[in-house]
Amino acid sequence: MNDNSTNGIPFNRPWLSGKELEYISEAIRGGHASGNGPFTRRCQRFLERELGVKKAMLTTSCTDALEMCALLLDIGPGDEVIVPAYTFVSTANAFALRGARPVFADIRPDTLNIDEARLEKLITARTRAIVVVHYAGVACEMDAIMQTAQSHDITVVEDNAHGLFASYHGRPLGSLAPLATLSFHETKNISCGEGGALLINDPGLIGRAEILWEKGTNRARFFRGEVDRYTWVDIGSSFLPSDLLGAFLLAQLENKERIQTRRKEIWERYHTELADWAGHVGARLPVIPEDRQQSWHMFYLIMPTAAARDGLIAHLRNRDILSVFHYTPLDSSPMARRFGQPAPCPNAQSISERLLRLPFYTGLGKEDQDRVIEAVRAFHP
Ligand SMILES: Cc1ncc(COP(=O)(O)O)c(C=O)c1O
Repeated sequence: MNDNSTNGIPFNRPWLSGKELEYISEAIRGGHASGNGPFTRRCQRFLERELGVKKAMLTTSCTDALEMCALLLDIGPGDEVIVPAYTFVSTANAFALRGARPVFADIRPDTLNIDEARLEKLITARTRAIVVVHYAGVACEMDAIMQTAQSHDITVVEDNAHGLFASYHGRPLGSLAPLATLSFHETKNISCGEGGALLINDPGLIGRAEILWEKGTNRARFFRGEVDRYTWVDIGSSFLPSDLLGAFLLAQLENKERIQTRRKEIWERYHTELADWAGHVGARLPVIPEDRQQSWHMFYLIMPTAAARDGLIAHLRNRDILSVFHYTPLDSSPMARRFGQPAPCPNAQSISERLLRLPFYTGLGKEDQDRVIEAVRAFHP
C-alpha cells in the first residue's frame, strides 16, 4: 500500500490503511457527497467517544476550526488574544481575521509550549482568549493555564493540531478547555489530505457552532425536525468538508491503534538510539514530562547552535534524507509589526534557529530508520 521504492527518505509520507477508496466509493454510491453526511457523522461520533468531548464537528482544516473559535467567542476589534510565539500562523491569524490583536507569549525551553508563568504579565483588560498549542503533541501546563485564565474570566482554546490521542493527567488533549481544534492535514498522524475538527466542551456553544458551520443557517435544527424551514439566523461560513473526506478520515481513525503503536515504536527507537550521540555533540532530545502522554507526532532535535542545525540538515540532505526546520517565530514576522512592537520572545527565537525534525511517518521502515540514525550519528558539529 505504501510505496517505499524511492531511495531517498522523505520527511513525511502519507500512510493509507487500505480502506480509504472503499469508503470513498461507498460515500459516492450512497449519494451523499456533500457535507454532514453519514461518514462525517461516524467520524464525529468516533472523536466524541474517544476523546470524551461533548461535540466534534469536522471542518475543512484546523485553520477553519480556529476561525470558528474566533467567531464563537465573538472576537472583534479591540480584543487581544494571547498565542505562543512559536506556532503556525493559523493560531494567530484566525483571531487577527476578526480584528483582534495577537499578543505573543514566549515558550518554555523544555516542552517548547507556551510559558504559563508569562501569562499574567501579558493579560490586560482587553484579553479575551489564550490559545495554547500542545507542541509535538505534548501537553501544555494546563492546570496553571486554566487557573490563570479562569481568574481573569478569559477563555482558553486548545490548538491541538499535533496532539490527537495524547493526554494530560489521563485526560485527552482537546477535552481540557471549552474549545479545541484538530488537524487532519497530510503531515498529521491521522489524515484525509486536508481536514480538521472543532471540539466543543462547553455545551452552551454547540447550538451556535452548528449555525456557523452551515453558513449562518439553522439547517441542523431543520434536519432534526425542530423547525419547519431553515433560514439565515447568524453570521457563518462553509466550514464543513465533503463526506468523501469524512470517508477517507474514517478509514484512518479506525486504524488509530495501529498508527499510534507504530509511531510510538519509531519515536522510542530514535530516542534510545540517538541519546549517546546527543550527549556527545550537545544536542537535546524532546522532553516528555511524566504526567502526560504524547501523541508521537514528531521527533525533533535541538542542536547547540544555528550553524550546527543547518549543518545537520545539509549533512542529511547529502545522504538523501530530508529533515526540516519548523516555525519562524510569529513575534518577529512582518505581520506582527502591524500590531505594534511585540515583547521579544528569546526562547522561541533560539529554538526556531536550532530545531530540526527528522523523517517521521507511520510507514517508516526499520531499514530506513537505521539509515537516518546512522547518518545523524555520523554528524559532529
Ligand atoms: C499548531 C498548528 N495549528 C494549526 C495548524 C493548521 O492546520 P491545518 O493545515 O489543518 O489548517 C498547524 C499546521 O500544521 C499547526 O502546526
